[in-house]
Amino acid sequence: PKAEFVADLMSKMTVDEKIYQLVQFTSDGTVTGPKSGDNYITRIQQGKVGSVLNATGAANNRMIQKIAVENSRLKIPLLFGHDVIHGYKTIFPINLGMASSFDPSAVEKAARIAAIEASAGGIQWTFAPMVDIARDPRWGRVSEGSGEDVFLGSKLAVANVRGFQGDDLSKNNTILACAKHFAAYGAAEAGRDYNTTDMSERVLRDTYLPPFQAAVDAGVKTFMASFNEISGVPSTANKHLLRDVLKGEWKFDGMVVSDYTGVNEMIAHGFAKDDQDAAQLALNAGMDMDMVGATFMNTLKKSYDEGKVSIEVINDACKRVLDVKYDLGLFEDPYRYFDEKREKENTYKPEFLDAALDVAKKSLVLLKNKNNVLPLKKDQKIAFVGPLVSDEFNIIGSWAALGERDGRAVSVKEGVMNVLGNSGKVTFDNGVEITGTKRDMMQAALNNAKNADVIVAVMGERENQTGEAGSQTNIDLPGLQKEFLAELKKLGKPVVLVLMNGRPLTLSWEDENMDAILETWWSGTRGGDAIAQTLFGDNNPNGKLPISFPRNVGQVPIYYNHKNTGRPYLGLSDPEQKYKSRYTDVDNSPLYAFGYGLSYTKFDYSNMKLSSEKIGFGQKVKISVDVKNTGNYDGDEVVQLYVKDVVGSVTRPVRELKGFEKISLKKGEMKTVTFEISSDDLKFYNINMQNTAEAGDFEVFVGGNSDASLNGKFELVK
Ligand code: IFM
Repeated sequence: PKAEFVADLMSKMTVDEKIYQLVQFTSDGTVTGPKSGDNYITRIQQGKVGSVLNATGAANNRMIQKIAVENSRLKIPLLFGHDVIHGYKTIFPINLGMASSFDPSAVEKAARIAAIEASAGGIQWTFAPMVDIARDPRWGRVSEGSGEDVFLGSKLAVANVRGFQGDDLSKNNTILACAKHFAAYGAAEAGRDYNTTDMSERVLRDTYLPPFQAAVDAGVKTFMASFNEISGVPSTANKHLLRDVLKGEWKFDGMVVSDYTGVNEMIAHGFAKDDQDAAQLALNAGMDMDMVGATFMNTLKKSYDEGKVSIEVINDACKRVLDVKYDLGLFEDPYRYFDEKREKENTYKPEFLDAALDVAKKSLVLLKNKNNVLPLKKDQKIAFVGPLVSDEFNIIGSWAALGERDGRAVSVKEGVMNVLGNSGKVTFDNGVEITGTKRDMMQAALNNAKNADVIVAVMGERENQTGEAGSQTNIDLPGLQKEFLAELKKLGKPVVLVLMNGRPLTLSWEDENMDAILETWWSGTRGGDAIAQTLFGDNNPNGKLPISFPRNVGQVPIYYNHKNTGRPYLGLSDPEQKYKSRYTDVDNSPLYAFGYGLSYTKFDYSNMKLSSEKIGFGQKVKISVDVKNTGNYDGDEVVQLYVKDVVGSVTRPVRELKGFEKISLKKGEMKTVTFEISSDDLKFYNINMQNTAEAGDFEVFVGGNSDASLNGKFELVK
């Protein structure tokens, strides 16, 4: 019936009416770029809008929908979109934090809850997940994705799509997901947002495209094109990406939206001469909807009359937009997402807040713990200091939709009080600002710290230092925070650094001088509870880094699955120190590698077994390993499997993540974990640009991070 319904509707539509379905306008809500001129309500009254961005609330959106449905000739409902990125009201950790859980089911649950809240708040479409592979921490948007790895990124892309879209889009508690930003946005030169990218088709397909393809395979209904150009062609009008790859090879039947004024920006790119040119280039290349820019609305009819765009192309785009409206059940009932009672009942539900705490606990990464200074003892005298110690604003991170900050989000201070009640011997002082240079609070904080058994410094970035347009060349702890840490260190007490930030920071000094470091990212509405429970041992940290932390910014981009080069450097044991691919001033390795993260307990890996030494194409090899909890606490561990393809028709990375499993082990407990690798898992784009595995030797590594040393090998034979 969908095909017939949509065909029938389109048979009644004028060319103008079809074009208007391809137009998205922003309400007066958040903007991330220049706003389109006129009042959007007037345009809705004129029936010139297919979708509205950033209008929220069941009552508000019902009112807007009514204007559309009652004024347009064919009563076509509007589609309401909003950036629901890591929660809608109940805010989960930022996506990079959620990726640290290495737990797709936790990520899916967070997206499901976000969809329930957002759909009850009048939203039918989120611009998430962001599935851009990101290897440059200068780029502010690393915070919004799943990090540097294609395998982890693909798994979490699928989890997000499932969470947002649920099992049936026609249910009114599901929303359209949007795989963005297509493509290679994370590879912006020098980490500067919106900047140029240039890469081989092989790197694009091996590294940057797979999470998008995984999203398509999981049934994602919409895509957003990226702002950047790739090798000279802006993604917004990139026929190769949109028509050949996405809609052709991958058979994507959903719709593509531009990013915010992305169509107009092709003029600045030097790719289009004016709005009309930009709009026809975009539509012809496979763009279905113009976000905010008004180019489709203002120029496509003219281009049609002049023969620059065909009715087939307009029809195809219009059909894709109407299809998703149909999938959501909007033609059946345009008001099905606008129920204020449901909105009230489905906002900040206790179970949602519990889930936010649970996911936050899974996302914290313990980077250092000298002499087991953590967990803290509840009867210790503890000086909590730092500009983020009482913070309820930054802790929920950027792109936090309608998540309330002050008064709603749990700060570290509140979390500590929730754990200790009134029995704690604790003090709380800011000491310094996040980025400011005021020194007048420092001495009072040092005085309290002097009398404590242990100092906990809660420090990091402002939430808006990351996210869109949040690129930085300096990724040290900002402001006077490091100076304050040095003063605290002089007191001779153990110092625990609790970090809140949206990107890898450069922490070489902190690693040398602090006793413990806990990376908490921006951990969401229940963040303070998760952090406090972890500091006091009621939660054993189990997150792992989804992105490498460089020693200094000069190492960037740095990622674990790099190529070996012809002159690989073997470290200090290398007999040849010159003429090797190395820096002369700093080691090649990152400070903290991908997949790294400590626990309060210890896990030992042993007894790797491979089911076979040789496999043929279409066959599988099983790799098993024993993991034992040999420490003093129960704990969770992310067991990771890496594979190295030793020789290829094109060079292959030193190792690649091919499996992971999060397991729980009681103190003293041992479990055998088994992975399966098929020849399909070994595919890459070979010298002839065929996506295939190649016969030859493969090494496997299993362990708790990307430096895993327990290894074995097998051969793939013809
Ligand atoms: O979804 C976002 C995108 O990621 C960046 N530009 C604005 C869009 C809509 O808010």
